[in-house]
Amino acid sequence: MCGIVGYIGFRDAYPILINGLKRLEYRGYDSAGVALISDNDEHLNIYKEKGKVAVLENSLADKDLSGTIGMAHTRWATHGEPSSINAHPHLSQSGRLAIVHNGIIENYASLKKYLAGKGFTFKSCTDTEVLVQLIEYMQQTYNLCVAQATRYALRKVVGAYAIVVMDKEHPDELVAARKSSPLVVGIGEDNKEFLIASDALPIAGYTHNMVYLNDEEVVLLRRNQPMSVKNLKNEDVNIDVKQVDIDIDKLEKGGYDHYMLKEIFEQPKAISDCMRGRLLQKKHQIVLSAINLHREQLINAKRFIIIACGTSWHAGLIGKQYIENYCDVPVAVEYASEFRYRNPVIMPDDVVIAISQSGETADTLAAFQLAKAHHALCFGIVNAVGSSVARESDTGIYTHVGPEIGVASTKAFTGQVMVLALFSLALAKAKGTIGQKDYEEIIDELSIIPEKIKVVLQQNDRIKEIAKTYTYARNFLYMGRGYNYPVAMEGALKLKEISYIHAEGYPAAEMKHGPIALVDAEMPVVFVATHHQLYTKIISNIEEVKARNGRVLAVVTQGDTSVRKLAEHIIEVPPTIAPLAPLLSVIPLQLLAYHVAVEKGLNVDQPRNLAKSVTVE
Ligand code: F6R
Repeated sequence: MCGIVGYIGFRDAYPILINGLKRLEYRGYDSAGVALISDNDEHLNIYKEKGKVAVLENSLADKDLSGTIGMAHTRWATHGEPSSINAHPHLSQSGRLAIVHNGIIENYASLKKYLAGKGFTFKSCTDTEVLVQLIEYMQQTYNLCVAQATRYALRKVVGAYAIVVMDKEHPDELVAARKSSPLVVGIGEDNKEFLIASDALPIAGYTHNMVYLNDEEVVLLRRNQPMSVKNLKNEDVNIDVKQVDIDIDKLEKGGYDHYMLKEIFEQPKAISDCMRGRLLQKKHQIVLSAINLHREQLINAKRFIIIACGTSWHAGLIGKQYIENYCDVPVAVEYASEFRYRNPVIMPDDVVIAISQSGETADTLAAFQLAKAHHALCFGIVNAVGSSVARESDTGIYTHVGPEIGVASTKAFTGQVMVLALFSLALAKAKGTIGQKDYEEIIDELSIIPEKIKVVLQQNDRIKEIAKTYTYARNFLYMGRGYNYPVAMEGALKLKEISYIHAEGYPAAEMKHGPIALVDAEMPVVFVATHHQLYTKIISNIEEVKARNGRVLAVVTQGDTSVRKLAEHIIEVPPTIAPLAPLLSVIPLQLLAYHVAVEKGLNVDQPRNLAKSVTVE
């Protein structure tokens, strides 16, 4: 939530900042702004616009944007409506300091009152403006440099922040700090330039050398000088430079109309990447170093607790079935936001698995830290390499599906399910809770899943036509059972978040305990009815909807005849074994949501009110 980019070096900062904002726009897009210190007159120029980054860019077309130091921000509103006044950067009272911020200052009201008592006034409704005034207050009161004033101010702050601060009296310095919100520094050759950003995407292309700041660290960046990092107590902190390689091509749309469609179509490759080097089909082996390194703890775990949010939570529900079925150990799947606040029982012989695409979801991170404090083994299933959840993990597995830019998660979900399948199978093998025949059968089937996903994707045009007949709907129901029940929930989530149609996913048998009251001739009901366990039972559920004139769309196994007779539309997926059905049956639901939203003329990659990386709780 909210994207930050900063630059200090020898190049024109503006193109780097504006292109960086475009790469970060998935984090928020209700307003955007940029601050530059002009090389000509050392003036601090701030430009802000309500709306997307493109609006800001267009408004700056005829401006002099020179300057080799600057910072920029794309916002997801927390305090104060989206407007150019509330957009970042914010200026201090004297106009000397400027700040961009991602996060929430929880005690901003009391700080604001304190500063108002000292004569400070405020133009915006944001917590961020309070912070920049506080830094200025520290600077003026104690005659401090901006880095030290920032440290003083942050000691008074309760909440989450990633900030970059510029001081127009010091156009050779950029100061940044983080707590609970991510910030990455890119180091140019010979320290000639530095980039700073909410994630590595805006930095990739300039340098591979990156430093992920830790909580309560403040970094001072100066041209041609090594970066210096101190904690809030003013102590020097060791700098851990990581090599981060990101394929820039993967950050473009690659000929697709939207990132979401590209990412849906990337799934065969993404899933293969996820299995590469881990699933050795010919040897019938799964090799996961995360398991080898913590073998005893994992084998002896009395319970697994999966914590996640949104789509990742849905993947967790499938993971629960894998781990319980193959490893014979109980699994709880928890919403991270609830888990962290309800004093959960966590034992030292529990294994807590955090699932997160971004690795920055505030609730997941906090729940994970809670598990760590209780000495549980913390196991991360993360896509974004080097992210906060990955760094908090004792061990874990990257999904390796590549950057996901579309706000609606697609390939990250199938990657998470794949990792959970690999993990549960490898652990079951280590525990001796799976027979060799079953083990080999699943490995063989996993290895051909990417080809089967390709077959599902071939139906894109047909799904597009089907989608046109459902754009009128105000409500949708999604039903599934067994492994397909979380898929139904995921299908409903995809539809609601990008098409703004209200949709609910249910275990199909629950229908008669309430949701069936909603069924009438207007109500589309999507059944995920592949040919597996409970197939005959789900047919009865379909009959129940038909009896009430509901419109039935069903995802079925190729060659299905029974559901075909009942459903108005069917979408076929290739046959597979029940546990792997979600990897195929979710694809038509992703495409359906996508096409309904496109038909409705909506912005699928940046749906209203949402952000890709939810770094506030
Ligand atoms: C839905 C979606 C969200 C995320 C959720 C968790 O399409 O993207 O529901 O799944 O915000 O995000 P991560 O996985 O980054 O922790």
